Amino acid sequence: MGLKVIILAAGGGTRMRSDLPKVLHPLGGIPLLEHVVTTAFSLNPERVHIVYGHGGGQVRARLKEIHVDWVEQSEQLGTGHAVQQVIPALAGEDTVLVLYGDVPLIEARTLQRLLAAAGRGDLALITAQLEDPAGYGRIVRDEAGNVLRIIEDRDASEEQRAIREINTGFLAARGGALRRWLAGLENGNAQGEFYLTDVIARAVAEGSAVHTVSPRVNEEILGVNNRLQLAALERCYQRRQADRLMLQGVTLTDPDRFDLRGELSAGRDVVIDAGVVLTGRVALGDGVFIGPYSVIRDARIGAGTRVESHCVIDHADIGPDCRIGPFARLRPETEIGSGAHIGNFVEVKKSSIGAGSKVNHLSYIGDTTIGREVNVGAGTITCNYDGANKHRTEIGDRAFIGSDTQLVAPVKIGAGATIGAGSTITRDAPPEELTLSRSRQETRKGWKRPAKKGKE
Ligand code: UD1
Ligand code: CA
Repeated sequence: MGLKVIILAAGGGTRMRSDLPKVLHPLGGIPLLEHVVTTAFSLNPERVHIVYGHGGGQVRARLKEIHVDWVEQSEQLGTGHAVQQVIPALAGEDTVLVLYGDVPLIEARTLQRLLAAAGRGDLALITAQLEDPAGYGRIVRDEAGNVLRIIEDRDASEEQRAIREINTGFLAARGGALRRWLAGLENGNAQGEFYLTDVIARAVAEGSAVHTVSPRVNEEILGVNNRLQLAALERCYQRRQADRLMLQGVTLTDPDRFDLRGELSAGRDVVIDAGVVLTGRVALGDGVFIGPYSVIRDARIGAGTRVESHCVIDHADIGPDCRIGPFARLRPETEIGSGAHIGNFVEVKKSSIGAGSKVNHLSYIGDTTIGREVNVGAGTITCNYDGANKHRTEIGDRAFIGSDTQLVAPVKIGAGATIGAGSTITRDAPPEELTLSRSRQETRKGWKRPAKKGKE
């Protein structure tokens, strides 16, 4: 008596002009098919069957973590033929729900209404009214408004083409009845295919009532055939996420220029400026500000921290009340302590920067541990790579590193040490002392610049 979901995903997707199977193209960073699978599982089905064909190996590999039943349709002979492949796995009393791997924005609550309608008879469909119904199957009704059949666009008469109520493809039916209707399907139509849509006329011939429900919004039923449609659905999807975040209390300066490709958890009064791209899992504490055009992947940012414009942050953990950027790059395994400042054109990799420390200008900090209240002057470079291996730099609390210093790792700078500007530090510097390595400055009295020949 359970719910069995069938997701049709065998089609080639020729119009994508892509080496990637259509259903693996990402929407909000997640493959189209995965959106549909997630929605299917939210209905608590007994089983989810995916009918696959084109690019089957890639599709299965990409979704291997998900527990579904894979059913191969080696030749794409039509939507009816595709559903027929799953028939052996269906029991008579099952409720069967047909979804499409390339129609990602269908909402669970719409499907629930479809299932409820199917429960009142043998068969239910989601239909929609479209301004331009071209290309879709049309819903043919009698004078009393009962559904009689679906006629495919290419098989329709001029008169039928004027019908604006279309078949979305979403269908729910009792397993036993579906098996019966599919059994004698024929392909004598314009496309020479076995149409799933032909089951409607068969149900009607048996005296079954066909119920229809409408989507909440038409974007739910839009499919992806080419990259234009994919881009249009991406904006729909992003707008849905943006709306949800704004209602949760996040300020998005321009919700049409915001992209979340993953999951965002945000505290109170978070402000995200235009053009920000968030990927993976991002957590923002209360009052965090993200400046325009910053790109953040898999990061945690503590309360009160400001990330100014054009920062790239990847797998980093940033404490509260920090100032990052503009134009800072934080690479994986970076930890920034509370109140620290990372300024413009500073790259930090696999390093921890202690609370209250500042690296404000034009620096590379790699494989380094920096203590608290350290000041790293402009242009400081940790030379962490000897051409074969990486080495660590350690800088103690309250140290002051003069500008344009190279710290040749492995090397330790003691707590409270001062390093003179322009130094190349190759040996450990003791705590609380001034260390510098610098060629002595000299002035040559009376020296003349060379003059150009023949010019007096
Ligand atoms: C289908 C419907 C049409 C409806 C439209 C909505 C039929 C006959 N027609 O038409 O009434 O208006 O969807 O978008 O059902 N697929 C397979 N195996 C196949 C053929 C298709 O898995 O052998 C999959 C495709 O990958 C796709 C879906 O089924 O996800 C729909 O197939 P498609 O060829 O796009 O159907 P349409 O002609 O658009
Ligand atoms: Ca289609």
